[in-house]
Amino acid sequence: MKTILTTSPAEAADFIRRGGIVAFPTETVYGLGANVFDGRAIAKVFTAKRRPNDNPLIAHVGSVEQIKLLVSEITPTAQKFIEAFFPAPLTLVLPKAAPVPFIATANLETIGVRMPKNESALEFLRASGTPLVAPSANLSGRPSPTTWQAVYEDLNGRIDCILQGATTEIGLESTVVDCTSGVPLILRAGAITLEQLQTIEPKTRIYQVPKGEQPKSPGLRHRHYSPRAKVVLMSSKFKVQSSKSSSFIGLNEPNEKIELIKICASVEEYAHELFNFFRECDRKNIKTIYCETVEEKGIGLALMDRLKRASED
Ligand code: TXA
Ligand code: MG
Repeated sequence: MKTILTTSPAEAADFIRRGGIVAFPTETVYGLGANVFDGRAIAKVFTAKRRPNDNPLIAHVGSVEQIKLLVSEITPTAQKFIEAFFPAPLTLVLPKAAPVPFIATANLETIGVRMPKNESALEFLRASGTPLVAPSANLSGRPSPTTWQAVYEDLNGRIDCILQGATTEIGLESTVVDCTSGVPLILRAGAITLEQLQTIEPKTRIYQVPKGEQPKSPGLRHRHYSPRAKVVLMSSKFKVQSSKSSSFIGLNEPNEKIELIKICASVEEYAHELFNFFRECDRKNIKTIYCETVEEKGIGLALMDRLKRASED
């Protein structure tokens, strides 16, 4: 398949209308979009990404009104979060509406819904005339793409079109919150923080997988965000091994000479740079990536979640 590159949301939306799949920028990471009501197009998304079919997709809307097309009920907590945050890097899990095909939700009775806060994404969604399912536009298991070039690296020849845009503003995926019960549960940490959600709904909690049970969010079962290199987490006090094929990313200068070093001025910048740095390390054949740990508050919680998962074997 030839992958068309374009900067025109209208041209990209034409592929959606013809049942195709299109990568597009959002404020978090690039997504791989398909019409949420077109089961055949959604099947192409799973194939292109080599995504396990038990991992549900997030639906993206171009307006708050469109949410009603996707869910059978907007719960009171979901309503509060929508009013407080949308458009935002925030995905709300709600009971799905009947017309949404089960291939989108991996057979779940719920669907994750979000309205991205990014002009190109919103223009593209509106031009498509339908909500779009969109997982991150990477091969399954690889770091999520924060540039169109990263999408190209993984999916050139496997998808119809890439809507080229700027580097994504945030660099980590959205916060996923289960809003089906009275106690909102964070299934995946992201840029909208626990603290922000608690100012709107103080009962909001981080979901902990009960011992011996499968996680609520099927995506949490799969390996994620991994560069080919080994990822080693370290606090700023620890010494790193000096080596030619090692790299370091963090907030403080490491104590040894390392081949490739990225020092970030803030936790936000660290979150913004992480996935791109992982990909750069793979291109340069780095064998070990040392990552400085950060405090698990604010966006630091999401960053630590991605770092821990990348460091799992
Ligand atoms: O920022 C984002 O969320 C990006 C951009 C493109 O919007 N999308 C994204 O999608 O990260 P994906 O498919 O890579 O991750 C979706 C996560 C997975 O962990 C999945 O298991 C979870 O959301 N998820 C989706 N629908 C769910 C549902 N109905 N119940 C529980 N978890 C769900
Ligand atoms: Mg993903």
